Amino acid sequence: MIVGVLGATGATGRNVIDQLLESKHTVIAFVRHGRITNFDRRVEVRAVDIFNTASLSAGFADLEILISTLGGFPGSFSPCGGIKEGYAKVIPHIIQAADFNNISRLLILGAWFMTDNASSVEPFFTRLGLSLLTNIFEDMEEMRQILLQTDTAVNWTICCAARLNDGEKTGGDFLVEPGDRIEAFKNEPKGISRKDVARFLVRAAEDKELTKSNHLISFCTSE
Ligand SMILES: NC(=O)c1ccc[n+]([C@@H]2O[C@H](COP(=O)([O-])OP(=O)(O)OC[C@H]3O[C@@H](n4cnc5c(N)ncnc54)[C@H](OP(=O)(O)O)[C@@H]3O)[C@@H](O)[C@H]2O)c1
Repeated sequence: MIVGVLGATGATGRNVIDQLLESKHTVIAFVRHGRITNFDRRVEVRAVDIFNTASLSAGFADLEILISTLGGFPGSFSPCGGIKEGYAKVIPHIIQAADFNNISRLLILGAWFMTDNASSVEPFFTRLGLSLLTNIFEDMEEMRQILLQTDTAVNWTICCAARLNDGEKTGGDFLVEPGDRIEAFKNEPKGISRKDVARFLVRAAEDKELTKSNHLISFCTSE
C-alpha cells in the first residue's frame, strides 16, 4: 500500500515509518518546508503546509492510507492559549485534501482521556498532571467533533493511547475498545511504547477489522 505519514519527523512518526518499511509498504513522509530529515532512502519526502488545503491536496497525490501522528502544537501547554490551535485547526484541511485524493483510510493518534480530561481519575497527582494537558485534550476533542460533523468519504479513526514511552516493541496482543479509554484500565491507564503504537497503527492500516468503523477507539497491549 502507499501510506502517507503526517508528523513523520516526530518520535512516533519515525517508528511508524520504520515499521511501514519493514512491512514493505511504500512510504511518503510529510514534513514542513525547509525541514532537514534523515529518513531511510526508500522514503519519499514531501514538504507541505498542514494548514493549507491546496498544499495538502497536492501532497496527498497517490496515497491510499494516511496516518497522522501530529502533535506538539505551540501553546498546547499554556494555561490560556493553544486550545483548538492545532488538531482542530488542521483537520478540515486534512480531510478536504484526503477527500480530494480519494484516500480511503485516515488513522489519527489521539490520547487517552480525550473526551473527559480525567475528571474521574482519583489520585490527586494524576489529576494535577493531566490538568496541564487539558488544552491538548480539548483540541483533540474539538477535532473529533469537526470530523463527526464533516460529510466525508474517508473512513477515519482516532486511536487513543496512554502515556507514550520509548520502550521496546513488544509482541503483546492489542486490546481495543470503543471510546477514549479501555474500561479495564479506566482509573490507571497503562503506558505504551511508541514502537507498539506504531505497530498498532500499521496493523490498523492493513486490517480494517482491527478498528472496525468506530470513530474513537482506545488501544493498549496486553503485556
Ligand atoms: N506523550 C504522551 O504520553 C502521549 C499520549 C497519547 C498521545 N500523545 C500524542 O501522540 C502524538 C505524537 O507524539 P510524539 O511524542 O510522537 O510527538 P512529537 O515527537 O512531538 O512529534 C510531533 C510531530 O508533529 C509535527 N508538527 C507539529 N506541528 C507541526 C506543524 N505546524 N507543521 C508540521 N508538522 C508539525 C512535528 O514536526 P516537526 O518535527 O517539524 O516539529 C513532529 O513531526 C502527539 O499528538 C501527542 O499529543 C502523546
